[in-house]
Amino acid sequence: MTTWIEIPGKLCIMGNIKGNSRGKMRPIRAQQHLVHIDASTPDAAKSAPPAEMIFGDWYPALRSAKLRPNATAVTTLLGIPMLLGRKSNGTLFALRDLCPHRGIPLSAGWFDGETVQCKYHGWRFEPCSGRCEEIPSLTSLDNLAPTKIFANAFPVAERDGYAWVYVPPPGAGRIADPAQLPPIPELPKFSPRFRTAHLTADLPCNVDHGIIGLMDPAHGPFVHRAWWWRSSSSIHEKTKHFEPIEDATNAGRSAGFRMSAHTPSSNSAPYRLLGKPVTTIDFVLPNRRYETIRAVNARGKQRWFASLTTVTPTTPTTCRIDVVAAWDIAYRVPFVTPIARYFGAKFVAQDQQTMVQQARGLRSNPGLMLIDDADIPAKWYFALKQRRLKGEGPHPLQNPIDLHWRS
Ligand code: FES
Ligand SMILES: [Fe+2]
Repeated sequence: MTTWIEIPGKLCIMGNIKGNSRGKMRPIRAQQHLVHIDASTPDAAKSAPPAEMIFGDWYPALRSAKLRPNATAVTTLLGIPMLLGRKSNGTLFALRDLCPHRGIPLSAGWFDGETVQCKYHGWRFEPCSGRCEEIPSLTSLDNLAPTKIFANAFPVAERDGYAWVYVPPPGAGRIADPAQLPPIPELPKFSPRFRTAHLTADLPCNVDHGIIGLMDPAHGPFVHRAWWWRSSSSIHEKTKHFEPIEDATNAGRSAGFRMSAHTPSSNSAPYRLLGKPVTTIDFVLPNRRYETIRAVNARGKQRWFASLTTVTPTTPTTCRIDVVAAWDIAYRVPFVTPIARYFGAKFVAQDQQTMVQQARGLRSNPGLMLIDDADIPAKWYFALKQRRLKGEGPHPLQNPIDLHWRS
């Protein structure tokens, strides 16, 4: 049976299409490496279709190591230009990069480790609260209190090497009680000693395409072809068990679904190296994929690997993928972190190159398909996102279910 569903800006077909295998295929275009994408260029995402964005949640703005004491950096989150920085006492801040007086970016001005001063008329702001401390043009005859004026400051917190910023819904005003904010996301760790690595890549497509690419099981044998990962000929039928995540303690805000504990893909060489690992993969709104791998090493010791991958909307038409991983597997092996980073970067570059190419196709805003069963997690994502945006409706996955695909 074929059914059609409407998702934002797209018509999707759902049904069963069986794959088949053929003889030797040669690449039409050569591979690329991880690249920086300037979203402002016509060749990037200017004409790509936009996605609705989920406000009222935490997003990784940038690597916190970029923010040394007294330093600032600019970024864009959910279409909002932001100025982030670290005061001399180590406290992070995040301001809308816009002076409330006449709109010049605050990043054009000065920061002395305590206050941000606007370049245009020298208003000075305490950057954690956004409170204006000084308006140089005022005289003793004026009765305007500068401290009644605020630049737009966002809650910010440091976790897992990122500056996470809470982006409230547009027009929500100042956050009255930070204790009411949702929990700050964090990568789970299972021992006191571990190694970590980070990867990031700009994607010239909207956040929905970034996220459904992240959870797409069928692209592995084609996009991630490599001797150390897998080949297209290793494709085989798989069955995975999924269960709903309702997040009742958080009002369903971070609802999602779990690929239940299973032995990961036997056609991926790194997993084979781990012996008989067991992995669990969670996707939760708005944009987070947690993967946890537990393995027993040759000496019978429990070892673990965990990663948190987020796809963050930088603008309605562009996004950025960030991966933070931590592990205590091979903790004592020298150079394991640069090796992991090298292979991780190759892996992410394969996804990035694919999405750069996909973005070219998406410019004409074509109709697209989601098929059973490989794209069912993508359908759950769209349904969960609509539920979160509307604040009502059932979880699309009512009961645990098995999905089948070849990858
Ligand atoms: S525009 Fe910033 S002080 Fe006037
Ligand atoms: Fe991928």
